[in-house]
Amino acid sequence: MALYSEKVMDHFRNPRNIGAIEDADGVGEVGNSVCGDIMKIYLKIDDDIITDVKFETFGCGSAIASSSMATELIKGKPVSEALELTNKAVVEALDGLPAHKIHCSVLAEEAIKKALKDYYDKNGIAYDPAIFPDED
Ligand code: FES
Repeated sequence: MALYSEKVMDHFRNPRNIGAIEDADGVGEVGNSVCGDIMKIYLKIDDDIITDVKFETFGCGSAIASSSMATELIKGKPVSEALELTNKAVVEALDGLPAHKIHCSVLAEEAIKKALKDYYDKNGIAYDPAIFPDED
């Protein structure tokens, strides 16, 4: 069996939503201190809907595929749905990742949450801090 699914290879070779958004409403950057990979997510939000999302990932192929898939999963969705995106959902949508690459999908979930928190903070929107448990 191939180590990577066809979906992983497709999103790695042809990443969707790559780039930056100049006037983003929310930006989230996270890194993994073990592998050194970095992921940055930009969100454009209009009337509670994620109208655009882009990413810049300096990392492994699985991190690029995870970013690409995660952005596809939240594009056009309400903020509340994006907040519920888990790394597990990203892995499932990619038809799996090898065990030692699961942390790459965790970066995608964390970067999106951080970008949403940035959006809330910038707009003075009140939220329950418990929805961002990993934040400082
Ligand atoms: Fe660290 Fe993929 S090896 S994000």
